[in-house]
Amino acid sequence: MNPAAEIGVIGGSGLYALLDGASEHEVSTPYGAPSDPITVAQVGDRRVAFLPRHGRDHRFPPHKIPYQANLWALRALGVRQIVAPCAVGGLRPEFGPGTFVVPDQLIDRTSGRAQTYYDTGAVHLNFADPYCPDGRRAVLAAAVPVAPVDGGTMVVVEGPRFSTRAESRWFTAIGGTIVNMTGHPEAVLARELGLCYTSIALVTDLDAGVEGDHGVTQEEVFRVFADNTARLRSVLLDAVTRLPAERTCPCASMLDGLKLPIELP
Ligand code: ADE
Repeated sequence: MNPAAEIGVIGGSGLYALLDGASEHEVSTPYGAPSDPITVAQVGDRRVAFLPRHGRDHRFPPHKIPYQANLWALRALGVRQIVAPCAVGGLRPEFGPGTFVVPDQLIDRTSGRAQTYYDTGAVHLNFADPYCPDGRRAVLAAAVPVAPVDGGTMVVVEGPRFSTRAESRWFTAIGGTIVNMTGHPEAVLARELGLCYTSIALVTDLDAGVEGDHGVTQEEVFRVFADNTARLRSVLLDAVTRLPAERTCPCASMLDGLKLPIELP
């Protein structure tokens, strides 16, 4: 089957497959192999590519995910719009487990991750609004059955450990509403490749500064994600059919007029 796709979905912890009847494709990139072979299938009248961010056997922890290869490989297949589900902790008591959030901002607290394709020349991209406004509208519409929260600030930590209570309280104090380990540099690398990027976050736990008891456990994160996978899958399959076929959002013209030091696929 032709591997060409227009839309990419990058699955998070617990979402290792999405598409029925998909063909599977190994894609190589100048940044190495992506996390897994990419599966491609038709959803409605759109061609969709799916890539499990951690690999289908979850072999890549958040700080070892080949983010550059993943975004590059998707673009090489023709993908221009990305929907990126992920598990997050809630930084406010009202954002409890099972809440779906479509964030509109992020705060990068990662360190040491390759977060650009442009190591030479002057390429300084506007990242004021890291998520695609049209993508957010499409995902919010698809998520109506799960009563999504419209907007929120995702704090992205380096991991792989969870945060201390003091760190967590500080994230809340500086305006964070949710916290995770994979939202960056994925969002900025998508921007650097001229792709639309929309996150849909599933709250799996209240972070350590919000709940006063045992702190966050991995078991809880995976269990709550698994409990909500069917709901997330149905939102994603609906969302991809709602993305605009013609891109008129700012992300689409973000690279116009720039002198890029590398040729994009
Ligand atoms: N992913 C899911 N829950 C999280 C939390 N509390 N902190 C960081 N990443 C997470």
